[in-house]
Amino acid sequence: MPNLTGKTALVTGGSRGIGRAIALSLARGGAQVLVHYTSCETEAEAVVAEIRKGGGRAAIVAADLADAMGPHKLAAEVRSIIGARLDIMVANAGESKSMSLDETSVEDFNHLFAVNVRAPFFLVQQLMSVMCKNSSVVMLSSLAAHSSVGSQSAYAATKGAIDTMVKHFASVLGEHGIRVNAVAPGAVETDKSSFTKTDAGRQFTLSMQALKRVAQPDDIGTVVAFLSSNDARWITGETVHVDGGSQL
Ligand SMILES: NC(=O)c1ccc[n+]([C@@H]2O[C@H](COP(=O)([O-])OP(=O)(O)OC[C@H]3O[C@@H](n4cnc5c(N)ncnc54)[C@H](OP(=O)(O)O)[C@@H]3O)[C@@H](O)[C@H]2O)c1
Repeated sequence: MPNLTGKTALVTGGSRGIGRAIALSLARGGAQVLVHYTSCETEAEAVVAEIRKGGGRAAIVAADLADAMGPHKLAAEVRSIIGARLDIMVANAGESKSMSLDETSVEDFNHLFAVNVRAPFFLVQQLMSVMCKNSSVVMLSSLAAHSSVGSQSAYAATKGAIDTMVKHFASVLGEHGIRVNAVAPGAVETDKSSFTKTDAGRQFTLSMQALKRVAQPDDIGTVVAFLSSNDARWITGETVHVDGGSQL
């Protein structure tokens, strides 16, 4: 477990799924974690309670990142809690929707880009003044960004944008000692993801992976904790594929 003692962290979408596992993983390393949510307050409170039960420090923060000013509002709340130093920012909150090219509406497209691309972009912009030497930003990309899996063209494009964004942000923020990376999971079993719970979805997932089991959120959380730590001090501008060897 990487040592994150004394570090402050924000995990967007930390209330459930992969974000929950990331929040718990960072807390196990010793970080104080702000667990962000938009609608699932009870789930976010449960994550905070679990961290506190283990002796850690945590609090909830709320914002709808589909709103144009959602990232600005969230950043202001984060600054009011952590003060002058944010060591770890994980832009995990995201939405996906399976739909064919001809089914995709302008509203669907705009919504996915608002939550998955615009929000992390402006969250970094609004929080970079409190990030410092050795701070780390990790964003959630996806296998879909570089491989055609399912009917997810619009969603996949948002994750392609994340891969591009981390390179540019890493370049711009590197002079301040801030690292920016992405992790790209394959199919991960979460409460809301029904795909890996169907026989067909499970078979498809296993058939495209070198490793023959379905990924769990903690498989991603531990990698994010590593990237957030000093152990990853020479890694920046990268998208790390965490997908059990999918589509090799
Ligand atoms: N699961 C996979 O197989 C998979 C694979 C590759 C990449 N990913 C990426 O990994 C990340 C997490 O995925 P997941 O499967 O863990 O998702 P999930 O279980 O559906 O959880 C999504 C999280 O994002 C938050 N969120 C959703 N819409 C939001 C909005 N408009 N404003 C603010 N917060 C919002 C949710 O908050 P509430 O709980 O309050 O609703 C929740 O905490 C996403 O970026 C996703 O694209 C997932």
